Amino acid sequence: MVCIDEAKEELRAKARPELTAKVENMDQYDTVILGYPNWWGLPPMAVFTFLESYNFAGKKIVPFCSHEGSGLGGSIRQIKMTVPDANLTAGVAIHGAAASHCDREVKLILEQAK
Ligand SMILES: Cc1cc2nc3c(=O)[nH]c(=O)nc-3n(C[C@H](O)[C@H](O)[C@H](O)COP(=O)(O)O)c2cc1C
Repeated sequence: MVCIDEAKEELRAKARPELTAKVENMDQYDTVILGYPNWWGLPPMAVFTFLESYNFAGKKIVPFCSHEGSGLGGSIRQIKMTVPDANLTAGVAIHGAAASHCDREVKLILEQAK
C-alpha cells in the first residue's frame, strides 16, 4: 500500500515532513494533548516535525495514541527525547478497532491534562 511504503521510507530516513498548518499562538497553551496513531511503535514522523517546531519547555504534554496491539510502544520514550524540557504525562493507549467505545480512555486523558 502506498501509505505504508511512504511511512516506512519516512521512518527509515528520519524524515521531518512539512506540516500544512501552524499554531500561531502556542505561547498561550500550558497543556497540549498530543494524539497520533502508533506506527511501528512510534508516532508518525510528522509528529516530530510538530514537536521540533515549537518551544515546549515547561508545557505539559499528554500523549495518546491509537494502536492495534502495541499500546504506546516506544512513543513516550521518543517524545521525551525530542522535547526533554516538557512535562510529559504517562500517556494513554486506545485500541483503534474499539475507538468508538473509549470513554474510559478519554477520561484518563482528561485526568492527565488536569
Ligand atoms: C504504517 C503503519 C504502521 C503501524 N504499526 C503499528 C504497530 O507497530 N503497532 C500497532 O499496534 N499498530 C500499528 N498500526 C496500526 C495503527 O496504529 C492503527 O491503524 C491506527 O492506530 C488506527 O488509526 P487510523 O484509523 O488513523 O489508521 C500501524 C498502522 C500503519 C498504517
